Amino acid sequence: MTDYSRYLSPMGRQLHESAIRRMGAVLAKADDLVSFAAGYPDATLFPWDAFREISHELLSSRDATVLQYGPTRGYAPLIEAIVGVLDGRAITATPDQVLITSGSQQGLDLIARVLVSPGDSVLVELPAYTGAISAFKNAGANLVGVRQDAGDGINLEDLDAVCLRERAAGRTVTLLYLVPNFQNPTGSLLSLEKRQRLLEWAERRDMLIVEDDPYGVLYFDDAASAREARPIRADDRHGRVIYLSTFSKTLAPGFRVGWMVAPASLAERFETAKQAVDLMSGAFDQRIVLEAVRRGLLGELAPRLRAQYQAKRIVMEQALRRACGDRLTWPAPKGGFFLWATLPDGCVDQALLDRAVEQRLIFVIGSAFYVDGSGHDKIRLSFSAPTLDRIEEGAKRLAAAMQPALAT
Ligand SMILES: Cc1ncc(COP(=O)(O)O)c(C=O)c1O
Repeated sequence: MTDYSRYLSPMGRQLHESAIRRMGAVLAKADDLVSFAAGYPDATLFPWDAFREISHELLSSRDATVLQYGPTRGYAPLIEAIVGVLDGRAITATPDQVLITSGSQQGLDLIARVLVSPGDSVLVELPAYTGAISAFKNAGANLVGVRQDAGDGINLEDLDAVCLRERAAGRTVTLLYLVPNFQNPTGSLLSLEKRQRLLEWAERRDMLIVEDDPYGVLYFDDAASAREARPIRADDRHGRVIYLSTFSKTLAPGFRVGWMVAPASLAERFETAKQAVDLMSGAFDQRIVLEAVRRGLLGELAPRLRAQYQAKRIVMEQALRRACGDRLTWPAPKGGFFLWATLPDGCVDQALLDRAVEQRLIFVIGSAFYVDGSGHDKIRLSFSAPTLDRIEEGAKRLAAAMQPALAT
């Protein structure tokens, strides 16, 4: 057998695998599995009929551009439509600042390719979204964690201290990555005051902020509002923010249509990098998404999505309380897909997951989200995809998996 490892480049050797994707392999194998792992949207909320109609019309048109190669930057009318979507989020952008990406995950990868040199320090939240961790690690970044305050996101004093410490150690530090709205994994919402202070900080420390916002419109009506989810980019007067968003959580992730907003000269660099990655995002996907936006589907769906995910959050919280009592605790998320739970003393995330798999339950271990090796007392439970019945069943299985740790 040939050992192919000797063919690998340094990057090929150090590629960082997503803990969540690894869970997918377990998911594919087991029968009767309850998954609280991946942050998948609820497939019953996909507007199937509208998509079928749109697809039929597009394919009936015999308009070559529906299936033809197109611009790397993205289909121009979709870019125009996204400028309108951004306007609805209080963001003023021009088309030359927008780039369509294959999901916002590609935006993260392009940022890492274009802006990160091996050894640079990139600042991320503790905990942080694993997909961003992978993208930056693959570019050779030295990821440095910044503490979050309970409930309202990144701690600005720690942020400044970490930035100065890294610079004093001779590292290049130019990027802060964060998810201000209903963060993955904690569900936390960055306060409006902190958003303003972050912009001032970025200007003072000559930093760029990568604002990743897939969940901003998915606020829970009992806990937050659109006003509180105002993007940082909305108030960026000095071109400090690169804003990422996506149709994955509001229409469907299978289209792989996301976008980034960056200062025009940077957007151009991202576009050039994208040329070598995929030439362009899928033409058909972009056209379906454009028609969906034109027909007002985003506005029509949003209240339904908010209501459904809020209802699922409440069912999961109640089921966990019934099954686990006060042994499991979590801050109430104000939107998004996740409960971020703290385990009781004596319970370790990976050991608990191993026992949960025996119970045919999966979730994501907390430590997967920490770049400093901590987080073993946390787990992320996603309530977005499973049905209400499966949420109830999963809570019972989690309690059963926790039992041995609690008995000792
Ligand atoms: C914070 C965050 N960023 C980016 C993504 C990737 O989204 P997309 O499907 O647009 O690539 C996700 C998906 O779960 C996410 O939670």
